[in-house]
Amino acid sequence: MLIEYDEIPQVAMDFMNEVHKEDIDLINAIFKHILAYDGSEKSAAAIDNLYTQWIDHTVIHFQNEEIKMQEMHFPPYLAHKGEHDRALQEMRDLFTHWQQYRDIKVLKIYFIETLPAWLHNHISTMDTVTARFFATGQSACGG
Ligand SMILES: [Fe+2]
Ligand SMILES: [Fe+2]
Repeated sequence: MLIEYDEIPQVAMDFMNEVHKEDIDLINAIFKHILAYDGSEKSAAAIDNLYTQWIDHTVIHFQNEEIKMQEMHFPPYLAHKGEHDRALQEMRDLFTHWQQYRDIKVLKIYFIETLPAWLHNHISTMDTVTARFFATGQSACGG
């Protein structure tokens, strides 16, 4: 298991916590296949399939947060959306690289060193503050 549920903080909105759980499930499933990769087309295709599902899931995950931020006129909307866009682009770039070169080491480094730290940081900062605003209509600075 790359990421355990209890490593990721709960935020003040259940719909976000549910999506984060699904995200962790997908990431763990991809990582399992990364570790089991044997260089065959079949095992590359298994990674491709899950990675594509993960990108699709992430698009919806981010969009649903962004729609609610806009509906509620969340002041730092652009900062949060900017971080979503950057992370999604990074996921897509990595996938393109993987499909082109089948370099499992690059995937391993990203999944071990980059992704869990990013997810933890994003959820414990931006998502936490945003969910509190959704739940109370208040931002942390009282605005
Ligand atoms: Fe999120
Ligand atoms: Fe977010």
